[in-house]
Amino acid sequence: MVQISPSILSADFARLGQEIKRLETAGADLIHIDVMDGHFVPNLTFGPCVVAGIRPYTHLPFDVHLMMTYPSDFVRSFAVAGADLITIHLEACDDPADVISQIHACGKKAGLSIRPSTKVADIIPYLPDIDLVLVMAVDPGFGGQPFQKEAIAKIAALKDLIGRKPVQIAVDGGITDITAPACVLAGADILVAGSYIFKNRSYKQAINLLKKGCS
Ligand code: DX5
Ligand code: ZN
Repeated sequence: MVQISPSILSADFARLGQEIKRLETAGADLIHIDVMDGHFVPNLTFGPCVVAGIRPYTHLPFDVHLMMTYPSDFVRSFAVAGADLITIHLEACDDPADVISQIHACGKKAGLSIRPSTKVADIIPYLPDIDLVLVMAVDPGFGGQPFQKEAIAKIAALKDLIGRKPVQIAVDGGITDITAPACVLAGADILVAGSYIFKNRSYKQAINLLKKGCS
């Protein structure tokens, strides 16, 4: 069964703890935390102190998506703050393998993300060392953008490359009940969804619709 990782980028920031509790009750599998540095992407969001502040509100794993240049400067801080999975961008650092090993040295799962303009082939050298690939279906930086359907072929290509290796595929951006089924059919294990869930008055209904459409 596909897992749902709601992106709190679209949550009510004045009530972040309660929002996370609502997501857990609604059946979320992970909590996706979009960290933006105003440099790798033209937007700013959360730092480690926010992650530490919301950690007591749920037992769900924290899926921290670092959209930042020099992620190695912050790996340890996010690990200590309560991240369970830390995903960095292939495009954001000179030596992704080194940052991946730093994440593992902190006892956390490591993910590698590619934005829409990056080819799947570029990720091949890192597949033996990562726990997850995050395929961006929008240009990173903002929620609420339309799904770029080229992501589906990328997911399928990754699925072939990964074979039986224990590497999960997640897709992030523009996920709705309409776009989700093709992603899962192509091989996605985790759907990251922000605006689709938060604009629905019932988070449970939104999460169920995403899961049901894919079963
Ligand atoms: C975009 C973020 C996504 C985004 C998803 O840079 O990485 O996680 O919040 O939001 P929606 O689902 O609204 O596209
Ligand atoms: Zn994200």
